[in-house]
Amino acid sequence: MAILVKNIKQLVQVEERPMIWRAGKEMQTLHKIEDAYLLTEGEKIIDFGKMSDFSPTILSKIKEKIEEIDATGRFVFPSFCDSHTHIVYAGSREIEYVDKIKGLSYEEIAKRGGGILNSAKRLSEASEEELYNAAWARLQEMASLGTGAVEIKSGYGLTTETELKMLRVIRELRKNSPLIIRSNFLGAHAVPLHYKGKQQEYVDLIINEMIPMVAAEELADFIDVFCDKGFFTVEETERILMQGMKYGMRPKIHANELDYSGGIQVGVKYNALSVDHLEYTGDEEIAHLLDSETMPTFLPGAAFFLGMIYGPVRKMIDAGLPIALASDYNPGSSPSGNMQLILSMGCIKYKMLPEEAINATTINSAYAMGISDIAGSIAKGKMANFYITKPIPSLEFMPYAFGSNKIEQVFLKGAKL
Ligand code: NIG
Ligand code: FE
Repeated sequence: MAILVKNIKQLVQVEERPMIWRAGKEMQTLHKIEDAYLLTEGEKIIDFGKMSDFSPTILSKIKEKIEEIDATGRFVFPSFCDSHTHIVYAGSREIEYVDKIKGLSYEEIAKRGGGILNSAKRLSEASEEELYNAAWARLQEMASLGTGAVEIKSGYGLTTETELKMLRVIRELRKNSPLIIRSNFLGAHAVPLHYKGKQQEYVDLIINEMIPMVAAEELADFIDVFCDKGFFTVEETERILMQGMKYGMRPKIHANELDYSGGIQVGVKYNALSVDHLEYTGDEEIAHLLDSETMPTFLPGAAFFLGMIYGPVRKMIDAGLPIALASDYNPGSSPSGNMQLILSMGCIKYKMLPEEAINATTINSAYAMGISDIAGSIAKGKMANFYITKPIPSLEFMPYAFGSNKIEQVFLKGAKL
């Protein structure tokens, strides 16, 4: 099928010459076309431009049935790329949420066997089918809110068998979902209870058993470690990353959420695709990132939900770095996958300009999940993942009107959701 969207008030984030990311001052650059059209065929974008340049002869080459959509008064954006999520989980953790309101910290809850270990217990009791159905429903909601690509982590299994179970669920989602999905092995998310006091043995299990088995079934694109105070050390992270890389998984890590953990430095050292969270980022960390191919990724949903400090995004952009934003959708620290809200938080909490926040949630977050060649902008040959807004007055209205859904229609891989 082919789709022709006509009379678009503004077509946003168009690229003639696709970039891999936008960094520093360039993050303010966002190419737009007023009064535009967009043409897709099959799964791909094949053409776009000004309505005044549109001629019906463009359509003569198309063999498929063409659906025409009139987008008068509406904007068209490339779908959001959500480069950091944990959406395969069982149940929810609103009781801990109340504990947090009463004053317990994330670390205190984790120490009592709550947190990630609570989700691991529930996940071990859930069937693959239950996990799949719950994650599918989350994906559908995310898609309806404008997300077209999602990275999904394991890490609520914490045994070989249950980590594989999570990754197989992700594989099924990837097979059946219209979203672009990438998979990340996060065996080093927490130390399971029966390894308490024997953390080294758990790290050995990840290295000697889990990684080879995950790789044998080709279940993960990436390898992740929660490298932070009270979780995994820099040395443990190095060992795990090296083994993951040996088996073809690129690092993408949780770093500097709870302290200056050294996580950013170790991520850069192993050429991580991204380092994520980064509440504790200082000058030394910024210097390392400047000299790297690693995307600094912020997760404002988690900082908001946990009432944490917000990382120095403005300072990092001003220093010349690129920034990506993602939802961190998970039951413990960010139970929402609404990227429209993340866009607003980028502007409100990190003082990003709307253009910067749009780049951070599209092309830069596409880079952070290794798909900036096929997603993250409106470019010929890229996947036709985009959304049409409701009638809105301006581009700035998207982050401004936080909390309401500004999207009317979603298209993924060239088909209506
Ligand atoms: O990205 N920081 C570590 N992991 C998750 C939280 C997972 C949980 O609490 O269940 C995160 O925020
Ligand atoms: Fe996370």
